[in-house]
Amino acid sequence: MKELFDLDGKVAVVTGGGGILCGTIARALAKQGVSVAILDLNEESAQKVAEEISKEGGKAIGLKTDVLSRESLEKSKSIIMKEFGHLDILINGAGGNKKEATTSKELEFFDIPPEAIRWVFDLNFLGVFLSSQVFGKALAKQKEGIIINISSMNALRPLTRIPAYSAAKAAVSNFTQWLAVHMCQNYSTKIRVNAIAPGFFLTEQNRFLLTDEKTGELTPRGKTIIEHTPMGRFGAPEDLIGIIAWLASPSAQFVQGTIIPVDGGFSAFSGV
Ligand SMILES: NC(=O)c1ccc[n+]([C@@H]2O[C@H](COP(=O)([O-])OP(=O)(O)OC[C@H]3O[C@@H](n4cnc5c(N)ncnc54)[C@H](O)[C@@H]3O)[C@@H](O)[C@H]2O)c1
Repeated sequence: MKELFDLDGKVAVVTGGGGILCGTIARALAKQGVSVAILDLNEESAQKVAEEISKEGGKAIGLKTDVLSRESLEKSKSIIMKEFGHLDILINGAGGNKKEATTSKELEFFDIPPEAIRWVFDLNFLGVFLSSQVFGKALAKQKEGIIINISSMNALRPLTRIPAYSAAKAAVSNFTQWLAVHMCQNYSTKIRVNAIAPGFFLTEQNRFLLTDEKTGELTPRGKTIIEHTPMGRFGAPEDLIGIIAWLASPSAQFVQGTIIPVDGGFSAFSGV
């Protein structure tokens, strides 16, 4: 059983690793003996997570990286290869939404500017695509490795108000399936590509939608989400650790091209 879940000595790249969910994932992987490269546009937060890991005796580097720039990704890849020698796991976590692509009383669907839609699509979809090209090439070369994309519940059931984010995450889920097949057919059946679809986790990207900025109380939208989540709460970042550890480990060796909800039952509940 221990061998089935063994990740000791592996090397992982975590994009968006300076953020709330992927920072927790990076710290948890490091505790399992994984050397972690934390890639984030926000250099300070990437370094902070790396330092915390190092302080606790783990191996980590934090690298300022823009997942929308091939040049930036290639630069980080060569540093990672120099530092750790190889790569086993890619977690595509950089993503997010913004107010300008979210309908509201002030912003009707008809007026969402193309730049805002493009911003959301680029970050969530193109970022996963480019990172998979750059780091996936290393996995293809060694004919073994794991890619885990962070999709969203929005991909399965589009939520009101965030049309670009929902569509971009649907593209991430679709690409996960495409890449799983492509890697198997062209490089190795030992390369596995899967995604998780988290439900609702209170983080910086959705705090403005789920809680009142002034009072901190749940908004009507936040309340509706809790009412539609059979487990009756938002997810905690720690709720993602087990699924990532499983997908990355040999215990998931026949799991390929899946998108797994981690949502406290939200997607199972019809509302009645
Ligand atoms: N919070 C939720 O409820 C929820 C639910 C489903 C899916 N997700 C997804 O989980 C992932 C992590 O989200 P989070 O809630 O921890 O958000 P977060 O904002 O805390 O983390 C996202 C990180 O991505 C980084 N980033 C932004 N643009 C980047 C770029 N161009 N290159 C590199 N890094 C960049 C940010 O600096 C940030 O550190 C995202 O893909 C998000 O869409 C979140």
